[in-house]
Amino acid sequence: MVVVQRMTVFALVLSCCVFLAGCPPTPDGLLRTMLEANGVVPLAKPPTNVAKVALGRALFFDKILSGNENISCATCHHPALATSDGLSLGAGEGGAGLGPLRVYPLDDENNPVIIPRNAPDLFCRADFRSMFWDGRVEEIDGQFFSPAGANLLPGLDNVLAVQACFPVTSRDEMRGHGDSNELAEIEDTDLQAIWAGLMDRLLANPTYLGLFQAAYPLKDEAAFTFAHAANAIAEFEIKSWTLLDSPFDRFLAGDNTAMNAQQKNGMALFYGTARCATCHSGPLLSDELYYNTGVIQLGPGKGDGVDGKADYGREQVTGDPRDRYKFRTPPLRNVTATGPWTHAGGLTNLRATVARYNNIRAAINNYDESPLPQILEDTVNRAETTNILASLDARMPPNPMSPQEIDDIMAFLGALTSPSLPQLPQRDIPASVPSGLPVAD
Ligand code: HEC
Ligand code: HEC
Repeated sequence: MVVVQRMTVFALVLSCCVFLAGCPPTPDGLLRTMLEANGVVPLAKPPTNVAKVALGRALFFDKILSGNENISCATCHHPALATSDGLSLGAGEGGAGLGPLRVYPLDDENNPVIIPRNAPDLFCRADFRSMFWDGRVEEIDGQFFSPAGANLLPGLDNVLAVQACFPVTSRDEMRGHGDSNELAEIEDTDLQAIWAGLMDRLLANPTYLGLFQAAYPLKDEAAFTFAHAANAIAEFEIKSWTLLDSPFDRFLAGDNTAMNAQQKNGMALFYGTARCATCHSGPLLSDELYYNTGVIQLGPGKGDGVDGKADYGREQVTGDPRDRYKFRTPPLRNVTATGPWTHAGGLTNLRATVARYNNIRAAINNYDESPLPQILEDTVNRAETTNILASLDARMPPNPMSPQEIDDIMAFLGALTSPSLPQLPQRDIPASVPSGLPVAD
């Protein structure tokens, strides 16, 4: 009943907007009711262990984790690029440079090697139960599911740690090809040998051995596995990138003055008539479920469809054709800084990424690839569009937004941005790493 009355107030406030020049700010009490109805509670930053974080930080920035010692996790998840890489689709091992200037490596036939999905940000991941655009790493009832199946290492702390076991196994991302190094020589299916090979590398380095021994109550070298490395990486990610000082997070923590009137109006739309919170709900701004929202496909694809250039998304994990083209709802903290957006990075403008929801079909049919770098322009997969639209989610499009409402939602997305972002490079990037390899790209 209370909710119904408040919704009436909300409708009144909105209709006022139509007649008056500019909206009055949405009342804070009403906003808090809407947040509560959507399960949005303040996030907490879990405690972390200093020695584990120190080890994880070294590993995250150290190219020793890549087969040819030419790329680190940070190359694709960089503090100066909001823990992503500023690219629609990334350039893995063998590439050169950082961010939008990074050059794609070439394969044996001189074709660019392009990573098939957009590199997501790593903000506020501590409470996640799924990882990757298709959720191929998941925690269900305390049990981990991953592409490694029964080969997954025991003793992993959380899905972030499970995730950290995989980039090092990917040839294009980090491991390398052919017989270019001792890790590349290992069969793709022998994940255990890859992880053991990495531990041989790390523990041969006295600084790493010391960091492992400081982080864990183990002294015997043989007792360490890559799970210890992965847990430390996860600990570092949680410690460094659980940023809870955005205006939105401060509002959630109780400060009504943290957000301005336009941001609040945008929040009311997001959780109200614009229906964004159907999916971007809860404390993570993601329900961690999978939807086909009609997004343009580009890049090499994931081996799906007639030419292998499609990406069936969640179906890759479940094998269920009903999951085709579905991707995990992305969380939106710091989304203003994490572009390009969507699973294949096709959208380079955040306002267009939001305005798209007004007319999904027009947006994908009239997709303009001209802002993309030439190498990617050539990969836009228009042939896939009809198939994508055929199974578009029934919730699409949500509700039409006026240009003013889109502005307000943009202001709300702005309120999800942490003012600490500019400090991350200075704070997170180590001057050197134990291997002595260059930290910069
Ligand atoms: C070549 C670029 C590249 C490198 C190197 C790389 N990543 Fe990623 N990362 C990606 C891409 C692309 C995805 C998304 C892949 C997908 O969803 O299928 C991703 C996904 C992730 C995710 C999942 C986030 C989420 O919420 O779904 C985490 C966490 C992550 N990477 C951490 C790491 C760590 C730790 C390392 C080093 C061990 C690393 N990455 C190395 C490109 C990279
Ligand atoms: C039916 C569920 C659903 C609804 C409703 C929805 N979204 Fe999304 N949103 C998604 C999914 C799923 C993606 C990723 C799609 C992909 O990449 O294929 C996404 C992507 C995004 C992105 C890009 C984020 C990134 O990191 O790449 C933004 C921004 C966004 N949505 C904002 C909104 C706003 C604003 C609304 C309301 C107008 C909204 N969404 C409504 C599910 C939804």
